[in-house]
Amino acid sequence: MTDTADMYNGGGDGGYDESPPSTVMLPGGGIDLSTRIGATLLPNPITTASGCAGYGKELAKFFEPAAIGAVVTKTIMPYPRSGRATPRMAETPSGMLNSIGLQGPGIDAFVERDLPWLAARGGRTIVSIAGGHVDDFVALAERLKGAPGVVGIEVNISCPNVANRGQVFACNPATSYDVVRAVRDATDPVVPVLAKLSPDVTSIVDIARACVEAGADGLSMINTLLGMVIDPDTMKPVLAGITGGLSGPAIRPVAVRCVYQVYAAMREGSMAQVPIVGMGGIRTGLDALEFVLAGASAVSVGTVIFNDPSSPVRILDELRAALVTRGFASLESAIGYAHR
Ligand SMILES: Cc1cc2nc3c(=O)[nH]c(=O)nc-3n(C[C@H](O)[C@H](O)[C@H](O)COP(=O)(O)O)c2cc1C
Repeated sequence: MTDTADMYNGGGDGGYDESPPSTVMLPGGGIDLSTRIGATLLPNPITTASGCAGYGKELAKFFEPAAIGAVVTKTIMPYPRSGRATPRMAETPSGMLNSIGLQGPGIDAFVERDLPWLAARGGRTIVSIAGGHVDDFVALAERLKGAPGVVGIEVNISCPNVANRGQVFACNPATSYDVVRAVRDATDPVVPVLAKLSPDVTSIVDIARACVEAGADGLSMINTLLGMVIDPDTMKPVLAGITGGLSGPAIRPVAVRCVYQVYAAMREGSMAQVPIVGMGGIRTGLDALEFVLAGASAVSVGTVIFNDPSSPVRILDELRAALVTRGFASLESAIGYAHR
């Protein structure tokens, strides 16, 4: 690992680089793409979107996990889960519908097998967690304390709250607050906690504000939009689970709008300022730039990975070039530029 990689691997051993992101040109003509989420400094703003790159291993055939800012894992639950019945994927115009149902190995297998592999490759890992009860989230956060390579926890609140008739946590400011507060309290203070928001709400600003008041160090937005497809031949829903999450280019304008609205609320002072990780339909560096201009400090690359597994590094190169072309000396100076 290079010195530079070491410097940016801060969260891996709980380390914390105190210096603010610099805006200087780097040797070799590159620009400074580093970005900060709470106490974690990432070397660049590109991350994988949860559920679209497994636990990092799948991508290692295409690029080194350490080449991007961070790998955001598929959401981990307390126990192994086989997910929903098939079919659980459907194509739609400019998008994809999935109802995977949080399939996964459970936290123990993840901590023992997947996390050490990523850490050994120098990867920075943001672990996505979810549960049906606030206590599940707390147990997951506690299990991750001191785990190698963890530079953040993304709280996937787009899952049903068993204690509230299955209403999705993310659809209610009070339940969003409760789960984020509990995870923040249970997590190592130097590890940032990000709340992953659902766009299927009346006011995303209200949910974002509740999460930040609960102690979220950052906001990831957006998760998929609820949708469904009916097959005109069988005249039945295509997905066994009937509804699924819509992702891909079709949702990008919705996602950019959400990032813009929340960043605007931060600028106006109606909520505290925290970094935003923007996602939804990013396929190119220019798509990523759109999120940065709207107010995102980092971006996640999701659905495009399924047909272009090396897209995160391509998008990183394209974003760098797009920033240089527009005269930005750093990523930081472009964040929220559309609001000026
Ligand atoms: C197949 C698939 C699985 C996903 N699984 C998760 C998940 O486990 N946890 C989560 O928070 N989001 C999950 N997502 C949502 C993505 O992380 C992302 O928020 C969304 O797809 C929008 O980005 P995109 O359009 O670039 O894919 C999943 C998306 C897809 C397509």
